[in-house]
Amino acid sequence: MSEYDDVQMEYILELYRNPRNKGTIENPDITHQEGNPSCGDEIRIDVKLDGDRIGEIKFSGKGCAISQAAASILTEMVKGKTLEEVKKLTKEDMLKAIGVPLSPIRLKCGLLALKVLKAGLYGIKGWPGEEE
Ligand code: FES
Repeated sequence: MSEYDDVQMEYILELYRNPRNKGTIENPDITHQEGNPSCGDEIRIDVKLDGDRIGEIKFSGKGCAISQAAASILTEMVKGKTLEEVKKLTKEDMLKAIGVPLSPIRLKCGLLALKVLKAGLYGIKGWPGEEE
C-alpha cells in the first residue's frame, strides 16, 4: 500500500468511528434499505427533499468500516444535489471518493450505500433499475 493509501485508509477508519449523517429522518420523502448479499449487512438511507434536491439525508444500519465510511462519504457528496445529478453518479465516482483500492469482495461493501440510494430514488421517480 502506498503512503497515500495509508492516509486514505486512516480517513476511512475515522469516518467509520465518527460517521457523518448517521441516523434516521422522521417522515422521509424517500427511504430505502438493502443488504449486501455476501455478508448480510444492511444499510438504510432516508432522504428529505428540498424541491428536486436532496435536502437532508441520513443513513443507518450496520456494516464493515468500508461500507459505513462509504455511506458517510456518499451522504456528504449528494447533499444539495438534484435527483438527476445523483442519478448520474457512477460506481467509478463512488470508488474514486472512497480512494482506497478494494478487492472484488470489498467492492460490494464500498458500493452498498450507492446501490441503496439509487434504488430509493428510482423507486420514487419511477426510474428503471440500475443497469447491472
Ligand atoms: Fe458487510 Fe462490508 S462486510 S458490508
